Amino acid sequence: MTQHDRLLIIDFGSQVTQLIARRLRELNVYCEIHPYNKVDDAVLTSFAPKAVILSGGPDSVTREGSPRAPESLWNLGVPVLGICYGQQTMMQQLGGLVEHGHGTAEFGRAFVTPTTDNLSILDGWFADGKEQVWMSHGDHVSRIAPGFTVYGTSPNAPFAVTADVSRHFYAVQFHPEVHHTPKGAKLYENFIKLAGFKGDWTMGAYRAEAIAKIRAQVGDAKVICGLSGGVDSSVAAVLIHEAIGDQLTCVFVDHGLLRLGEAEQVVSMFRDHYHMPLIHADESALFLGALEGISDPEVKRKTIGRLFIDVFQKHAHEVGGATFLAQGTLYPDVIESVSFSGGPSVTIKSHHNVGGLPEKMGLKLVEPLRELFKDEVRALGRELGLPASFIGRHPFPGPGLAIRCPGEITAEKLDILRRADAVYIDQIRKHGLYDEIWQAFAAILPMKTVGVMGDGRTYDYALALRAVTSVDGMTADYYPFTHDFLGETMTRIIQEVKGVNRVFYDVTSKPPGTIELE
Ligand code: XMP
Repeated sequence: MTQHDRLLIIDFGSQVTQLIARRLRELNVYCEIHPYNKVDDAVLTSFAPKAVILSGGPDSVTREGSPRAPESLWNLGVPVLGICYGQQTMMQQLGGLVEHGHGTAEFGRAFVTPTTDNLSILDGWFADGKEQVWMSHGDHVSRIAPGFTVYGTSPNAPFAVTADVSRHFYAVQFHPEVHHTPKGAKLYENFIKLAGFKGDWTMGAYRAEAIAKIRAQVGDAKVICGLSGGVDSSVAAVLIHEAIGDQLTCVFVDHGLLRLGEAEQVVSMFRDHYHMPLIHADESALFLGALEGISDPEVKRKTIGRLFIDVFQKHAHEVGGATFLAQGTLYPDVIESVSFSGGPSVTIKSHHNVGGLPEKMGLKLVEPLRELFKDEVRALGRELGLPASFIGRHPFPGPGLAIRCPGEITAEKLDILRRADAVYIDQIRKHGLYDEIWQAFAAILPMKTVGVMGDGRTYDYALALRAVTSVDGMTADYYPFTHDFLGETMTRIIQEVKGVNRVFYDVTSKPPGTIELE
């Protein structure tokens, strides 16, 4: 358990609850998100928050049995900030009134004006006499709770900002965590300042604590770690190695579907630079043999997933006596977000993961990144001295080049794809565009087309180039390269990579496409 001041976010199921945590972490405040139905009086006491935030949510407090904050919250004596649904339940639970609809729903941009000055959470607001905020509510507060005063109002939310300063209860109808509330970050900063947070949640502190925690958890046991070459598993491995040294062995399964020079880079970095015990399992023949003749994307994914687990298990046993498995699980995978819609969602793709492995192998888990967001993992990686070029690498999927080779996978196609992808990425880096792009890669299409080179006819493969911008990979847009860039890249690929005579640029967004081709 961390010794930092802790802030508790009680989640009522808003789509943007994670953003509240992001804003707070940016202010060096340690916080955790817990679903409302898992926070009872006992949890509240043991968590010992220095402040609490009640998130927004899709329900209506006017509905019988709707989600509520635990009653003991109001007597905890710590500052509470209610946002949207959180504001409404605060008002209702403390004796105010919330009403449904009646033409006062507000979605999108609105402007709040102050009704009286000097509410500390609004310090730095209203330089122009009003402030833009983002609203998303159907219900509205029609009577504030006893003890509260109105500090800000908008056309459809007369009680846009209210507070009972003597009890440190603050309530806003809008969402300060989204970018469309430009002074939202300032509001959070004001709130944590009045709550007395020291802002001591830094990566340096996290590193030292995580190392102590790993040592306490593992003792003198052996740990194995599946290294993929991606940022998460690499940062986890370096951190654990710093904690327990050679008690850690990494297993790097090379499925023959990696990019040009990738296996060599991973092995040289971890074995030669960090001096970690590393098993480099070159199983490319096994994987490529099993994939022969398979064109169906789901069959490909499942074949790779199944073999990966078998191979990992085989090599993990070679380590002998390991009782822990290290994984680079991140906070977004851990947060149990409240689902009001219920029911399983449709499987678009069977993602490659090693879930289920620990139980199967009877291993306990070490997950030192469980409390971190992706950009915090990158910051920790920098703190641990991993090269910047490595930390900033675009995501690469577990099934590797297999899903960038629609149709049947052959050694020839993989070889062409590897070389073309390297030229494409080199072009992007040379033009200084790499960090603006979420992910860029080449895919080899399952067709040959006719071309002419010199005086001769060619009949070679066609490539698709893909580059997207995205925040989280859930939605994406194509990157708008200039025509000059595209033309130059096409010329370089066709000149430098034998076997390609045509290049397409993929301008599909997600949705309707996905980022990978399969
Ligand atoms: P899609 O293609 O579903 O990809 O739009 C979204 C993001 O996820 C990555 N991806 C994967 N990552 N195992 C992974 O670790 C997988 O099986 C997998 N499939 C897709 C993809 O590269 C993109 O960043």
